[in-house]
Formats: sequence, C-alpha cells, structure tokens
Amino acid sequence: MQTFNTINDIQNWCRDQKRQGKSIGLVPTMGYLHAGHLALAAEARSRCDIVVVSIFVNPIQFGVGEDFEDYPRDLRRDSNLLEQAGVDALFAPSVREMYPVGYGSYVEVTGEITEKLSRPGHFRGVTTVVSKLFNICLPDLAFFGQKDAQQAMVIEKMVKELNFPLQIIRVPIIREADGLAMSSRNVYLNPDQRSQALVLNQSLQKAREAIMAGERDTDRVRNLLQATIGTSPEANVDYAEIYDATTLADVKEIDGSVLIALAVRFGTTRLIDNLIVEVQ
Ligand code: PAF
Repeated sequence: MQTFNTINDIQNWCRDQKRQGKSIGLVPTMGYLHAGHLALAAEARSRCDIVVVSIFVNPIQFGVGEDFEDYPRDLRRDSNLLEQAGVDALFAPSVREMYPVGYGSYVEVTGEITEKLSRPGHFRGVTTVVSKLFNICLPDLAFFGQKDAQQAMVIEKMVKELNFPLQIIRVPIIREADGLAMSSRNVYLNPDQRSQALVLNQSLQKAREAIMAGERDTDRVRNLLQATIGTSPEANVDYAEIYDATTLADVKEIDGSVLIALAVRFGTTRLIDNLIVEVQ
C-alpha cells in the first residue's frame, strides 16, 4: 500500500491509474478504523481495480464544543489494518493541506432533506470535504456506511445535482455481537454507558416488530422508541424519527419504505443508528 500526504501526489497517482484504464473505489473515513470501515474497503475491493482510503479528521464538520480535538486517532494502527485489507493507497493529508490559510470555498446541499437535519453546519463540512476528496481521488465508485443514512442521502443528492461523474454505494451497518452499531466514538463510552447504549438497537427492533405487527401510526412508533430509549437513565434523545426512506420526508402513516433514525447522547457521546423497514 502506498501512503500519500499531499493532494498533488495522490491526484497524479490516481490520474495515472485512470490512464491505465483502472477503476477507482474511494472510501472516505476519519480514521480510528473498525469493522464497519473495513466492510466498506472490502466492498470497494470486490468492485474496483484500485481502492483508495482517505483518513482525515475534518475540522469543518465539527461544531463548536464538539469532539474535534479529542476525536480518536491512530494512523499507524489504521495503516496496518488497511494494508491487511488489500487497500492500494492511503491518503492522509494534514488540515493545512486540505484547508490552506485563506481557504474559503464550501459546498452546501439545501432543500427538504437538510432542513430537518439536526446538525446543518456539520453537513456543509461533510459535503465540502467529500467534494474535495472526489476531485482529488477521481473515484468511479465511492463507499459510505448506511449507519449515517442522512449523510449518505445528502451526499447522493449532491452527486446527482452537481453531476459528479461517480456512483455512491451504501454498505450495510456492521454491529458488535450484542447489536451496538460500530462507531469510532464507541471508545468514549464508559462500561455503564456502553451497556446502556444497547437501547438504540433494541428500540429499533421493537419499532420494527410493532410495524410488522400492523402498527402504522408514526406518533405511536415514535413514542415506543422514546419509551424504550427512556429505560436507559443516561440516554438523552437528540432525535428519534420516522422518515420516508428515499426522500427523508416526514411520514404520518407508515407505508412503503421508512427509515427509523436515532441520535442519542450518552454523557457527551452522541451515537446514531437506524433501520429501514418495508411495508406493503
Ligand atoms: O462518515 C465520516 O466518517 C465522515 O463524515 C466523512 C464522510 C469521512 C467525511 O469527513
């Protein structure tokens, strides 16, 4: 695996791969890799000639008081994992490389999808860095985890509306054996919070069971989510919502494909999880 730290070097290398007729799969990450990231890399490996993984803790997607400084980082460990996963190139730029002094260009997706997002500034940071990574690494396919379903939707909208010549591939959520969705932020949880965090997946499963048993009223499903999460004393709900799975529009009566999406804080750690349920 080759490691690149500058935009020029990786871009020239990617151009060269494309000149040789090779397809490029990009997996953008913020590092501190877990099995979820490795599933993205494996999917890219199975579909593309060349796999590029980026590791960049992107400061502009963190709000004031969020965990940018404390975000877990371990480039050496990540690099070993990627090497073992058969990744061809790692792009790990510095903040100054991506955002030189005087930097001032941003990409923002607006419309119904983003109006209801709880962290709009965050998504502007994500779409800006992802656009830069697309222009730098020239992927044919780019891989994102279904765990951040809102992020995947916003990026898909951006790709469509700005005509990026690439396809977004969503990869299913990878869970720990007890059901907790894998996240780099899980390391922040103390043992008590770690066991309380199981309410995320449990509440999603209960909501799914209720819908499968015939419940169609979103208020009642939302109440069920809140009540299940509420059994955990440290849980603080940011959102527990039911959306149309393709448009993120609010849903009153459950029909077709719905996304049940959660963001819950345990202490200062904000975890997200979601589930798509299909009804006829
Ligand atoms: O999902 C993430 O890890 C980040 O939001 C991403 C897509 C790498 C952009 O910084």
